[in-house]
Amino acid sequence: MKSRLILALAVFLLVPIFILLGVRSTLSNPTSPPVAAVETSGDSLRSLAQKQGIGIGTAVDTAPFKNDPNYREVLAREFNVLIPENAWKFEVVHPTPGEYDFTQIDALIEFAKEHKMQVRGHPLVWHYSVPKWVPQGNFNRDQMIAILREHIYTVMGRYRGQIPVWDVVNEAINRDGSLRDTIWLRSIGPEYVDMAFRWAHEADPQAKLFYGDYMIEEINHKSDGVYNLVSQLVQRGVPVDGVGIQGHLGLSCLPNLDSLTKNFERFNQLGLDMQFTELDMKIQDGQGSREERLAKQAQAYKDLFQVCLRAKKCTAMLMWGFTDRYTWIANVTGEVEAPLIFDESYRPKPAYDAIKEVLASGS
Ligand code: XIL
Repeated sequence: MKSRLILALAVFLLVPIFILLGVRSTLSNPTSPPVAAVETSGDSLRSLAQKQGIGIGTAVDTAPFKNDPNYREVLAREFNVLIPENAWKFEVVHPTPGEYDFTQIDALIEFAKEHKMQVRGHPLVWHYSVPKWVPQGNFNRDQMIAILREHIYTVMGRYRGQIPVWDVVNEAINRDGSLRDTIWLRSIGPEYVDMAFRWAHEADPQAKLFYGDYMIEEINHKSDGVYNLVSQLVQRGVPVDGVGIQGHLGLSCLPNLDSLTKNFERFNQLGLDMQFTELDMKIQDGQGSREERLAKQAQAYKDLFQVCLRAKKCTAMLMWGFTDRYTWIANVTGEVEAPLIFDESYRPKPAYDAIKEVLASGS
C-alpha cells in the first residue's frame, strides 16, 4: 500500500517535470528537429574527386562540428579537404598580444587525421579579422611588421609540414583592381604582401602559398588587379603558388564560363595553381519555382566543376560549407537561400548529384 502511494506520488511529481523539460528543449532549438544523416548511393564525392586527382573540400564551422554527429559523419564521408571556417582567423587564434588559442584548430586537425583528410590553412592576412588590440596599440611600422611576422611564424610554424596549402593574403584587392586600404597597407605599405608570402615560406617551406579573393571569377578589373599583383610577385621571386577564386555566387550572378576558363588559363600560364576555395550559390535571386532554381543551381555547380577539370592546373574544388542547415549566408542576408549541396536534413540536393556526375565522367 505504502509503495503504491510512493509510486503515485513519483508519477505525479516527475511527469510534469519531464513535460516541461521536453517543451523547453524544443523551444530552445525550434527549427532543429533531430535528423539522421542520409545515406547516399554509390561512390562518395571524395572517392570520385580522388580519381580525378583533385581535392574536394568544405569549410567547417566549429559549433556544428562539436555538436552535430550527422555533420561530422557527412563531412568525413564526402570530403577529403577540411578548411577551418573561422578557427584560424587572427581574432580567434591570436585574440590578445602574444597569446594564441589553438584548441579549436587542434580538434579539427585531429578529426582530419583520423579521416585521412587534408587541412587547408585559412587565412593568415585578412583585413576583416583583426583583433582590437592591433589598431588600438597605435603601433609604428616596425612594430606592425614584427606583429605580422610573429603571427605568421607562430600560426604556421606550429603545424609545419602538416598543412599542404595556406591562404596567405586574403581579399587585398578592390573592385577597381587597386590595393585595398587595410590596416596592413596603411601601417606597413604595399610591401606587406611580399613580406607575408616570404615569412610564410620561411615558416613552412613545404606549404603551397595562395592568394585568395572574391568576384574574380571572370576577367574583370578586380581579377586584372589580382593578376597584376601575383604576376609581380612571381617576377620578384616571391614564393606564391596559387590563386583561390572564392566563388560566393548566386543564380543572378553566375560567371560567364568562357571568361572563367580564360581567367584560369592566364593564371595557370604564370605557373600558378588554381582552386575554387569558398563556393556557395544562393538561389533566392533566381527565376522560377524552387525546383527550377535548384536545377539551375545544380547545372551551375556542374559547370564550375567542369571548368576546373578541363583547366591545366585546377587542384581543388572547395565549398564554404556543405549543408544548408549551417551556412554563413544566413547571417549575411537573413535568409538561408539554400546555397550548398546538402539540404537542411543532410539530403543530397540536385547539385550534389550533378557534381557526382561530372566527377564520374571526368569532364
Ligand atoms: C566568413 C565565415 O563564414 C563567417 O562565419 C564569419 O562570420 C565571417 O567570415 N571570405 C572569406 C571567409 O575568406 O573567411 C569568410 O568566412 C567569407 C568571405
